[in-house]
Amino acid sequence: MNYNKKSIEDIEVTGKRVLCRCDFNVPTKGGKITSDKRIVAAMPTIKYLVDNGAKVILCSHMGKPKGEWKPELSLKVVAARISELLGKEVIMAEDVAGEDAKAKAAALQNGDVMLLENTRYIKGETKNDPELSKALADLADVFVNDAFGTAHRAHSSTAGVADYLPAVCGYLVQKEVSIMGKALANPERPFVAILGGAKVADKLNVINNLLEKVDTLIIGGGMAYTFAAAKGYSVGNSLLDESKIDYCKEMMAKAEAKGVKLLLPIDCVIADSFPNPIDGPVDVETVDITAIPAGKEGLDIGEKTAAIFADAVKNAKTVVWNGPMGVFENPTLAKGTIAMAQALADSDATTIVGGGDSAAACEQLGFADQITHISTGGGASLEFLEGLELPGIACLQDK
Ligand code: 3PG
Repeated sequence: MNYNKKSIEDIEVTGKRVLCRCDFNVPTKGGKITSDKRIVAAMPTIKYLVDNGAKVILCSHMGKPKGEWKPELSLKVVAARISELLGKEVIMAEDVAGEDAKAKAAALQNGDVMLLENTRYIKGETKNDPELSKALADLADVFVNDAFGTAHRAHSSTAGVADYLPAVCGYLVQKEVSIMGKALANPERPFVAILGGAKVADKLNVINNLLEKVDTLIIGGGMAYTFAAAKGYSVGNSLLDESKIDYCKEMMAKAEAKGVKLLLPIDCVIADSFPNPIDGPVDVETVDITAIPAGKEGLDIGEKTAAIFADAVKNAKTVVWNGPMGVFENPTLAKGTIAMAQALADSDATTIVGGGDSAAACEQLGFADQITHISTGGGASLEFLEGLELPGIACLQDK
């Protein structure tokens, strides 16, 4: 895929109506935003458009309302936060591309900013319905995609609209694509990738693709137990996907054939069961990966494993990390994930953390400032690591 896309700096925006798709799918609790990271990440593009006299029409989805007007998923709370960050009022539309949005878009002056309602309030959005794409396009003269987190979705507001308007990327998409693209296409070596998370099934193609590129592949988290089973060990009640045991064997053989160092846990932290509540008290002990007793569940990597993984990171020049090493939401089971975050923080390498849980872990654990790049994309960064074409980027004009 060609990632060399035209950006907002390559087109005229002054006096133009610019429809700018952002990923404002931010977590909220009791009507309050609990992390505004994605809003903050979109601000450079929004500021550029305002400073250059565009008539800015922002849009995004939030959650999965599936065509229903769920008030708790309204973007009003986002408009208020952008207003604060921008120091000027953001005009809120009462609909997506309906009468209110049309009237407000038509009345915009240069430098004004408005926000449409949640694009997923309209059923056609996730179906990439041409009627909705056209209605969105009719509001504007130019389309800017700055929603990296949603770039893996072929929806009306992320891709379909580009059929009707000149389409370019914003600064966030440009930054995400250039940092991650360079790491994958032309990494400084040694290149180490760390994969974690619960299920092997979620990362099948990521493992396969990364084995073509990295010098060392580290696998921890729940998915490591299927690899342990593939090596012939009993894993007790640990997460196990029996249907993927052969796949794990194949990947181990591939790593060997390619001369890629594949590092798997040699010890793990076990408990009687998954903690309930997730952050509640849990009695644990550490055992060798070859000695998980029946009835016990592995829930984090052990200390010996953490030291080996950290050592591999120490010598790296490029590190990509996606997925926690254990149940990091629980302080007793967060040690492996903390050790990885610490190893990345201590490293002089270019360090990139894929979004989702590993990004949340770095932020919650206070390491975010010491990482080169934390992606705003969860699923999107994973698909990027898989080497898949992202529709929200493919639809933009090439340079
Ligand atoms: C995300 O949170 O990863 C993006 O906003 C995409 O959301 P989705 O998985 O609901 O499409």
